[in-house]
Amino acid sequence: MSFYITTPIYYVNAAPHLGHAYSTIACDVMARHMRQRGEDVFFLTGTDEHGEPVALAAEREGVTPQELVDRNAPHFKDLAPRLNVSNDFFIRTTDPEHKAKVQEVLSRIRENGHVYEGVYEGWYCPRCADFKTDAEANDDNSCPIHRTPLIREKEDNYFFRLSAFQDDLLRLFDEQPDFVMPRHRYNEARSFIASGLQDVSLSRSTFTWGVPVPWDPDHVFYVWFDALLNYYTALSYAKPGEDLTDRFWPATYHVIGKDILKFHTVFWPAMLLAAGLALPEHVFVHGFLLMSAGPQKLADGERPELMKMSKSMGNVLDPFAIIDEFGADALRFYCMRDVSFGQDGEVSSARFAVVYASELANDFGNLASRTVAMVHRYRDGTVPSAEPDPTLAAEINAVIPEISELLDRADLTGALDAIWLRVRRLNRYVESQAPWVLAKDEARADELDRVLASLTEGLRVVAVALHPWIPASVEKLLATLGAPELELDGARMMAGRLGAIDRLEPLFPKPR
Ligand code: MSP
Repeated sequence: MSFYITTPIYYVNAAPHLGHAYSTIACDVMARHMRQRGEDVFFLTGTDEHGEPVALAAEREGVTPQELVDRNAPHFKDLAPRLNVSNDFFIRTTDPEHKAKVQEVLSRIRENGHVYEGVYEGWYCPRCADFKTDAEANDDNSCPIHRTPLIREKEDNYFFRLSAFQDDLLRLFDEQPDFVMPRHRYNEARSFIASGLQDVSLSRSTFTWGVPVPWDPDHVFYVWFDALLNYYTALSYAKPGEDLTDRFWPATYHVIGKDILKFHTVFWPAMLLAAGLALPEHVFVHGFLLMSAGPQKLADGERPELMKMSKSMGNVLDPFAIIDEFGADALRFYCMRDVSFGQDGEVSSARFAVVYASELANDFGNLASRTVAMVHRYRDGTVPSAEPDPTLAAEINAVIPEISELLDRADLTGALDAIWLRVRRLNRYVESQAPWVLAKDEARADELDRVLASLTEGLRVVAVALHPWIPASVEKLLATLGAPELELDGARMMAGRLGAIDRLEPLFPKPR
């Protein structure tokens, strides 16, 4: 089966921060898991490079927009390998192939009768690159998100007849109750549609940084239409010499943050309907990573305010700094473990330190270290080929179908919980079987064989399940065990799977 998953494409006029890394890591976990199941996976991420904010930033810095995006896009492109993310392609919306395809699809939408010319007059926030209705604007005509003044715009625009799609969209939501996930986001999107849709600007004519409108050279496409189409255009040129569209379209999951819900759950399906293209199966909307504003900003006795982490708020946890000190796995695990996927969650360096020490270093790292050490100490580094403990094996083996079922619903938090139950189960097994006691009694050699075989096999199965979250550490451990295979098919405890094993350095060493 094909599985196509996408991150939002990131604006390049800021530096990448943990909020961006978060969407990308989540998609990577799903993509890696699906590959372990033998699915035909395509995983896309990239950068959103057009639009007024970029044009304005370039102007401020005295460079051309193209120079600005060429300078900034690599910061985002480099983030993927540093996070050990396995994307199959990185799209830039300034790619000529993307631009040509955008023109083609939007021309088709026009030919299908969904575009008309008009004058837009209303509020616009340059920082959101979004138009605001009177109801959305604050009373002082400032942006409800940025609190900066909105601009009164009056310009010639082409419009997309979004209003004509209200019934189709409501039908889509009724027929596909998991089109938007989780449920509270589905409800939010559905009520937005039900409250009535207005036509939206499809083009801008007051600046030139964008994909030119092919039927009118005075216009460029409104950046959101250009950006959304990346999910579709990328497939046509991601692989040189092969068009992947038939193989992967429509997308299985678009993973996005809650700030861009309207665009992905209302505009995007309407656009696809207008172009006669198939609709994605799911849009999964995750929450925000929040950080406390910090004591310096607080008046006496005031509680730390939680806010969305963003560059403009100056409360950014630098993913690169964490990776440098603790490695990508630690960052990946922390983001996925401490924030419930689909909800907002607070992150902090203090919590990071706790999760690293208690779960990675202690629960999992220590389980791996002592298991490997005991095989060396008691059996000269060869895992005995005894039949694993059947009760333990049943509990451990059940993790594979369980996480598969949870990840089919993008329940990343639930799946990691399910794995962690098994990590803790194996630690309890060590304590209850006390191999160090068995080792003192020659008559109990068979028992010790069975305990060591059960532990190492259990550890192997759990490690394979965990691979999507902490790929580098798992690969290191599996190489030590002489069993590098990642397929979930082989992730069952079995006798004789393991033989001679290597020694293992701590997977998650104490910070210096
Ligand atoms: N370019 C648009 C998206 C176009 S998709 C066709 C955009 N870019 S963005 O860089 O501003 O943000 C992209 C995404 O980054 C957000 O939707 C969200 O997924 C993620 N995050 C940015 N800040 C975040 C947090 N503080 N927490 C979690 N994710 C957040 O919007």
